Amino acid sequence: MGKFVTASSSASDFLPVLLMMVALLASSVESQLVANFYESSCPNAEAIITSAVNSAFNARPAAAPGVLRIHFHDCFVRGCDASVLIDSPSEKDAAANANSLQGFEVIDAAKTAIEKQCPGIVSCADISAMASQLSVKRLSGGRLTWRVPLGRRDGVVSSAAEVTGKIPAPTDTVATIKSTFAAVGLSTDEMVTLAGGHSVGVAGCGTIQNRLTDATLASTFDANFAAALKRQCPTGSTSKVNLDVTTPNRLDEVYYRNLQARKGLLQSDQALQIDPETQPIVARNTNPAVFNSKFVAAMIKMGNIGVLTGSQGQIRLNCRKFNA
Ligand code: HEM
Repeated sequence: MGKFVTASSSASDFLPVLLMMVALLASSVESQLVANFYESSCPNAEAIITSAVNSAFNARPAAAPGVLRIHFHDCFVRGCDASVLIDSPSEKDAAANANSLQGFEVIDAAKTAIEKQCPGIVSCADISAMASQLSVKRLSGGRLTWRVPLGRRDGVVSSAAEVTGKIPAPTDTVATIKSTFAAVGLSTDEMVTLAGGHSVGVAGCGTIQNRLTDATLASTFDANFAAALKRQCPTGSTSKVNLDVTTPNRLDEVYYRNLQARKGLLQSDQALQIDPETQPIVARNTNPAVFNSKFVAAMIKMGNIGVLTGSQGQIRLNCRKFNA
């Protein structure tokens, strides 16, 4: 009789089998999303979404960084389930999202286009994941691209209170930011790499005001950069400033060179160059080949966080509202 069925087997005998089962379970969770998910239900889904998203980016280029951030804020709260897309009262009311999260019209445009061809088939969560990939592709001049695994379903809960502690703040310490990412299964390396999203887009002057005025924080800036920012952001200004001072509209590794030159915009950006664990990762990510491949891998991993699949959740008809 095999040793796994004898009554005298000890718990440790089962450990290899248990580990194998856990590994199988983990890989089946990861593979719940597939690239050709809509192949039979809506064969042109990816083409329709691509066309609508790119048109919306052409209409308002500043929306492209916005949708990348929307996907990040979606995935970190209840997984990538489009919970952040629901209109107020919702996650949109949380401080991390209110007034600054933007680009929702891109997802609306894609949803309207897809509903005309394939009603009730394609989730808002998948549209958001695809829009973020198309944003990265566009902003990297086509260098960073991948086929998005699909099959997410939309959540039925969206609460501002749940955002607290899940989306890092620019004033958070590196230790806090690391644990925010660890909470959704992302490593410190992946955190530093995804922070490369800050090589595009803008922040409000209000977001960096404390860094400009607090003497200790101000001393972490390059002096000329700080002087320029003070001119752009006088106290009380509601203007926006580029997150990447060197190549503001290009998603690339230059963000990390800015940090080394003490030209990171947010306190949390510059902190990555100060923390002893993240500093060597910043240095490695200045290599474009290293950054490009790690960024794509981390985006795919982020897009898998806590996804709803199968018969879970719903396929929303309007990304801003739960189905009646
Ligand atoms: C590491 C921790 C992070 C912190 C503390 C953080 C914080 C912020 C803040 C405060 C802003 C500016 C908000 C404003 O003033 O308008 C911002 C913008 C942005 N963030 Fe992050 N973020 C983090 C990670 C990420 C990640 C992982 C991504 C995507 C992969 C990302 C993508 C963006 C983009 C693209 C913008 C510009 C959005 C626009 O132009 O509308 N961020 N972030």
